[in-house]
Amino acid sequence: MRHLELFLVLLSVFTKASSSDREKADIERKLIKHVKEPYRTEILEDFFTRKTGEVSSNPDDVRFCLYTNPYDSDDFYELRYKDLNSVKNAPIIPQAPWKVLIHGFTQSQNSSMPGVIKNAYLEAMSKGGDTQVNVLVVDWGKLAYSSQDVLIPIYTAAVRNVEPAGNRTGEMIQFLLENGAVASISKVHIVGFSLGAHVAGNAGNYLKSQGLSLGRISGLDPAGPLFYANIPNFNGRQLTHEDAVDVDIYHTSWGSYGIAENIGDADFHPNPGFNPLLQTQPSCLNLVKTKMLLQVCSHNMAPVFYAVSILYPEIYGCSNFAILRTCDKTGQFGEFWNSNSTGNFYLDIPSSGLLLLKHL
Ligand SMILES: *[C@@H]1O[C@H](CO)[C@@H](O)[C@H](O)[C@H]1NC(C)=O
Ligand SMILES: *[C@@H]1O[C@H](CO)[C@@H](O)[C@H](O)[C@H]1NC(C)=O
Ligand SMILES: *[C@@H]1O[C@H](CO)[C@@H](O)[C@H](O)[C@H]1NC(C)=O
Repeated sequence: MRHLELFLVLLSVFTKASSSDREKADIERKLIKHVKEPYRTEILEDFFTRKTGEVSSNPDDVRFCLYTNPYDSDDFYELRYKDLNSVKNAPIIPQAPWKVLIHGFTQSQNSSMPGVIKNAYLEAMSKGGDTQVNVLVVDWGKLAYSSQDVLIPIYTAAVRNVEPAGNRTGEMIQFLLENGAVASISKVHIVGFSLGAHVAGNAGNYLKSQGLSLGRISGLDPAGPLFYANIPNFNGRQLTHEDAVDVDIYHTSWGSYGIAENIGDADFHPNPGFNPLLQTQPSCLNLVKTKMLLQVCSHNMAPVFYAVSILYPEIYGCSNFAILRTCDKTGQFGEFWNSNSTGNFYLDIPSSGLLLLKHL
């Protein structure tokens, strides 16, 4: 509350000041209206008191790490954009589909996302069968404030970087396609979490501008704050259902860290009845206490649920919220979603289901 008062004082100062300051104040007024707690205070602080120029927005700082060794999940090979030698020498599995994983704000290559999903794909591969994939981890950490040297990460700057990071990801996919490393653009599937979901959308949008239709984007609790405010030059471009042929979305913290809008061809809502207004995942209740941490935990559940679905495909949603526990199994949840199942789906994922992942 103190921050809000401070803001109002500053706002009155701004309105008496120059027209550009007035524009700034106008933007801030929109922020107040559209950015929900718990982000609001942080974002206002960013705007008024912190420098936003410390983070790189250089697409050359985006790294691409290929993982195809099912027996060593730390073993990776760095592919470099426009470097043909790096492609020729890479341990790519020819003809196999590509899974491109994109982390969120303050994360990077070795964070839990992409880690938990990469490890699930590699574990599925180690079991044999038709599970071979090229896992490409996009490390845009330098643009997303992953650095340990930065005391306070600045969300607004990371939001502005979803477009350059997404475009570079699209350029990299195009480069791999043109050099035969990616067999077919329709077999490229991007899985992006939080801000990374919007990076994925920008990659798809870039590819589209090149006449290429990306196969699929799975958006894991796409970041909400600043994406529903519609402030010109301040937002990043938001993921839409037109950024790939098929777009499936998984909401775990609706309206707090996650976007409060159904934006996919299909939108899955795990554990929706628990707290429909401010979605909280029940498995977080035992882990954390304060409201803020509860929402962070709920947000972070999206990649965990998705990883479960890679190894345990028999999870289904239901298109009717009212009969959640008795309806037909209509929409398969996660990795094995059938793109013919469109609309909203609701399901319970009990905390016990997550124990399946304890070894990952
Ligand atoms: C991730 O860990 C590997 C070692 O397993 C290291 O080589 C790599 O530099 C780390 N990546 C980042 C971005 O810190
Ligand atoms: C990203 O690509 C889109 C589509 O080609 C383009 O409109 C946009 O200006 C690009 N943005 C950046 C930051 O490169
Ligand atoms: C979706 O439905 C169409 C028409 O019924 C069918 O041809 C297609 O194989 C289905 N796609 C999938 C992925 O099941």
